[in-house]
Amino acid sequence: MVMKVEIFDTTLRDGEQTPGVALNVYEKLEIARQLAKLKVDVIEAGFPIASNGDFNAVKTIAENVKGPVIAGLARANFKDIDKAAEALKNAESPRIHTFIASSPIHMQYKLKMSPEQVLEAAVEAVKRAKSYFEDVEFSAEDATRSDVEFLCKLFSQTIRAGATVINIPDTVGYTTPEEFANLIRTLRERVPEMDRVKISVHCHNDLGMAVANSLAAVVNGATQVECTINGLGERAGNAALEELVMALVTRKDIYKVDLNIDTKQIYRTSKVVSTLTGIYVQPNKAIVGANAFAHASGIHQHGVLSEKSTYEIMTPESIGLTSNRIVLGKLSGRHAFVQRLKELGYELSEDEINRAFERFKDLADKKKEITDSDIEAIVEEQVTKI
Ligand code: KIV
Ligand code: ZN
Repeated sequence: MVMKVEIFDTTLRDGEQTPGVALNVYEKLEIARQLAKLKVDVIEAGFPIASNGDFNAVKTIAENVKGPVIAGLARANFKDIDKAAEALKNAESPRIHTFIASSPIHMQYKLKMSPEQVLEAAVEAVKRAKSYFEDVEFSAEDATRSDVEFLCKLFSQTIRAGATVINIPDTVGYTTPEEFANLIRTLRERVPEMDRVKISVHCHNDLGMAVANSLAAVVNGATQVECTINGLGERAGNAALEELVMALVTRKDIYKVDLNIDTKQIYRTSKVVSTLTGIYVQPNKAIVGANAFAHASGIHQHGVLSEKSTYEIMTPESIGLTSNRIVLGKLSGRHAFVQRLKELGYELSEDEINRAFERFKDLADKKKEITDSDIEAIVEEQVTKI
């Protein structure tokens, strides 16, 4: 049977924790509407207790965006949970996402609480959230540096208190694919209650392994992945939605999962988020970077002009682009040059092409990229005027 994996987008909550990003309510609403078009399963709209602005943003999104579940974050205390419930009360499908840290390092230095106190706070928080809504997510912050026995106890008791989703965050991007796979397997084996809830993962990218870790979790039974557009987030960011989704889609032979996502909205969503957050996307970023579907060398250009799959493992159209990009420069060959001449409407003789190509190569040694205007000028000088 093909398993369904849900995409939980936290661009508007963890993504907004990117240093330098602050979105107002209109910007958040615009992003949320685009996320609904992308067909994410869950939008984490914000952290309602954090500020009046965030409360209003969560409330506005809850009231106006239909389709995905709308989640609001709350620490494991009644004040946070009551505030989240107030912001979410008019949502079509509301979810409170409550969390508390479970690692010795966080419990000792940040919370100054014993494991027993953390367990009690987690159970009480889930019960309180459940008094508002059916759908409650519980996260054990810093799960990957926590004691596994303690995690088992925490998850078993929070599920019994009413949690419908159990989230296992790699808060500081510390784990590796093998280790994380093992953790998910162990928790599923040791906590029988995990069978009746969604198992979620939330990976940070400090060692550049957020997407790989999330995929390893999916192979081992995770049914929800938390991620952000363009991989935005605290420090090195979160698992990038576009990378996760396209890996799951492109390697369906391995992952064998179904998603709701409309992949054709990926590029547009990335653009909306980079414009509104002001965080530009690096050109070589997988899937949505300017070079992700660009070909610069003559050998590659010849390959894709003959058959795209020689150097493209997914189509640009599948993420909403209209075509790939052949970059003309000093590494380009005659094949790509002739193709561009045709696209620009020139029908030249062999001799004319030879002269134009020679001039193109001279110019390409002096310039990084040859534009269409450069080619028009070359044809004017070298061909028409002779
Ligand atoms: O990284 C993390 O642990 C979080 C939790 C609040 C889920 O963002
Ligand atoms: Zn996080």
